[in-house]
Amino acid sequence: MRKLIIANWKMNPGGIKEAVKLAGASDFKGAVIAPPYVFIPAVKAVLKKAALGAQDAFWEESGAYTGEISPGTLKKMGVGYVVIGHSERRRRLSETDEMINKKLLASLKSGLKVILCVGEDKSIRKKGFSAAKNFVRNQLKKNLRGVKSSVISHRSLVIAYEPIWAIGTGRPARPRDAVLMHAFIKKFLASKPYVLRPRIVYGGSVNSGNIGSFLANPEVEGALVGGASLNASEFRKILKIAAGY
Ligand code: PGA
Repeated sequence: MRKLIIANWKMNPGGIKEAVKLAGASDFKGAVIAPPYVFIPAVKAVLKKAALGAQDAFWEESGAYTGEISPGTLKKMGVGYVVIGHSERRRRLSETDEMINKKLLASLKSGLKVILCVGEDKSIRKKGFSAAKNFVRNQLKKNLRGVKSSVISHRSLVIAYEPIWAIGTGRPARPRDAVLMHAFIKKFLASKPYVLRPRIVYGGSVNSGNIGSFLANPEVEGALVGGASLNASEFRKILKIAAGY
């Protein structure tokens, strides 16, 4: 199965011209491009091979929710994937596990594929793998409440393991640590009540120099790329390497 490489542009680039240019250069099979909301129609018009993503979605379908965008609207705009529960939203915007669960359920209901981000911070990781595992298990339990294989298809869920201390720092997790966590997530979600087989991808300071060491492991089924997805030639290198696995 082809590895999935997701470009999370975050609040970049600053203008539509740059967004269209970057999308054109990133348009490869196996990629998902998640631009800021306002660039979605322009990016959609450019993409022929890559899928279109969004960086968030609200849990209601319409109504008096200033500034929010519904999953149904995103779907109608041609969006296929939505990132839910990114640590930047959890921490900076105080998104709770309950909010994330509501967003995830509403997105799945609208037919979007969900990329759920989980991962521990540095203080937890310092306590060891067991503590990190407990933290991630707890996030999964709360964020996936009400989700099981009988209600969703396996392919509609992607779990992005993103240790917070590795995001935007230039210091990725060690591939073997990521592999251990991926194996744990896989086992946990394969059991009852979930019985799910989501794709599990790694995120946190991924670049063309280190992507191979992650993707070489079958447990790592792709990557969520932030900073490096903003540099067209760097992102193309990442996609090229990913296509070899
Ligand atoms: P990074 O971001 O690649 O810049 O570390 C990853 C992410 O936040 O998804």
